Amino acid sequence: MSETDEFWDFYWEMRLQPMENLGKRSAILAASRLIRQMAEQVERPLRVLELGCGEGQVIGTLLTAHSQLCDVQTSVGVDYNSQSLARCRRDFPGLRGVEGDFTDPDLLAGLGKFEIVLLVNALHEVFSDSFSHELGEIDVPAAKLRVEQALASATGCLKPGGWLVLFDGLEPPGDPTQTLCIRFRDYLVRDGFFTFAREYHPFRISYRKVADPLCVDLSWRDFTRYLTKSIFIGKKLWETERLESYQYFSELEFRAAFARQGLAIFELRSLTVNYEKWRGLVTIETPGIDFPNEHILILAQPAPPRVI
Ligand SMILES: C[S@@+](CC[C@H](N)C(=O)[O-])C[C@H]1O[C@@H](n2cnc3c(N)ncnc32)[C@H](O)[C@@H]1O
Repeated sequence: MSETDEFWDFYWEMRLQPMENLGKRSAILAASRLIRQMAEQVERPLRVLELGCGEGQVIGTLLTAHSQLCDVQTSVGVDYNSQSLARCRRDFPGLRGVEGDFTDPDLLAGLGKFEIVLLVNALHEVFSDSFSHELGEIDVPAAKLRVEQALASATGCLKPGGWLVLFDGLEPPGDPTQTLCIRFRDYLVRDGFFTFAREYHPFRISYRKVADPLCVDLSWRDFTRYLTKSIFIGKKLWETERLESYQYFSELEFRAAFARQGLAIFELRSLTVNYEKWRGLVTIETPGIDFPNEHILILAQPAPPRVI
């Protein structure tokens, strides 16, 4: 480890301590590493783009840390939420915030090309936007197509040799229909689950009550959805979180979608940050089943053309 790496490890440990969403930490650390590596290879300051930048916690924090390596003035955050963008502009005044829909290829085409493109917790919202009132659920094929189109547009924003950093929810491996039995810590947590099952909007949630009033049977698919939303139930954020599916692609689907866009994956990690919180809420009674990883982090580059 070089002295500079040690400096940045310490810097990020201090800087990211107050950040509530610890999942973003791994995306920020990975992007910081890339920025430092790229700055050694590219002479000009780097342009960074974040699609779905929200309040700018990711891109703003990265540009503040690496203001000497990045071109802050020409780096861009895109978001269609004017309130979030207003906060982003207030907190990171040098950064250009563009209000608009990043799934619109014309909008992205007007922004130019970037060395780093960030998609942090953004594509699951694109997936969730394809809710069908007719079906009463997300229209999954249409939603996956939209995600793939957004990935294609994001890829189109990369300069040759640029990097795409994706951090988002992950559909964990395992048979989605497998039934498992879970036990809630107490009646309060169990009632929270009933709220989840009633109010979670993207998909219908099914479960079966069993003899023990603190236990229910449910599918692995619905269990993973409950877990990733459990930390929001009863909080203000539940009002928006209940509308979004955090899961949309399995690891295999991410790999296939990246390959279709001509992106070579250099690092892929699945991870969870809420394991201890989940363990405090529920135990899995069915033997041989453990809590899933909820996030995926992918670092990818456009693959060089193949020589025939
Ligand atoms: C969960 S937040 C993440 C914000 C930021 N990336 C972060 O990690 O701090 C997702 C953001 O993506 C934005 N978003 C979702 N779909 C979008 C779209 N199609 N066009 C523009 N913004 C979008 C939302 O408004 C929201 O601010």
